[in-house]
Amino acid sequence: MNRRLGITFGAAFLSLGLWSLTAHSAGEEEKEAQQAVLKLMESMEGKKGDVKAQIAAIKKKFDELKPIMYVYKPKAKGGIGMKDGAGIEQELAKIGSKNSKLRLTKEKIAALKDDLIKAGRITITIAEITDVYAPKKDTAEWKKYTKDMKKAGEELIEAAKSGEAAKIKTAANNVSASCTDCHSKFRND
Ligand code: HEC
Repeated sequence: MNRRLGITFGAAFLSLGLWSLTAHSAGEEEKEAQQAVLKLMESMEGKKGDVKAQIAAIKKKFDELKPIMYVYKPKAKGGIGMKDGAGIEQELAKIGSKNSKLRLTKEKIAALKDDLIKAGRITITIAEITDVYAPKKDTAEWKKYTKDMKKAGEELIEAAKSGEAAKIKTAANNVSASCTDCHSKFRND
């Protein structure tokens, strides 16, 4: 191998190494964010802990919302996921979609109940966190979206408990809409 080629290969391996290092630490951040979300959820549900202090600590620790929102990804990608590992975001979109082929039979509803309640609880918790990430510009609009998100999460829990297909569909759709409303305005992809 000539020297030039050696240097090129060396540089390529070095950057690959650095890339895998940063990729790894991103995974750690998401894991920590997920733990913080679950802990806050328990506190908000009245079991223990100081809700305000925990939210402030999350805001201080994570500059961006991204690792927190990651909770919604499929389990295999580092999200919390439904029982079968599917991402909460994609499942709610599927359930809420008018064009979905998914039929909410009694059996399906019974099987989904726990997952829907969990998705609602997580959504209420993340709405509370998201609220403190409001930007300086268009703050009121951001806060309206976090309010919608929280309300839709509550509605989803109620719907899951009712066991009524139409209610579940509407609530799932409302949760999804609250996400996309904010993303289309504030998330730069
Ligand atoms: C009030 C605003 C707001 C609401 C409501 C909101 N999000 Fe987000 N979301 C954001 C922003 C802003 C980002 C980009 C964060 C960043 O890149 O730092 C984001 C990022 C994400 C990501 C990460 C995407 C990526 O880059 O990989 C996911 C997943 C996500 N949101 C899911 C959801 C879901 C699901 C809901 C509803 C249940 C939701 N979000 C509701 C503002 C919001």
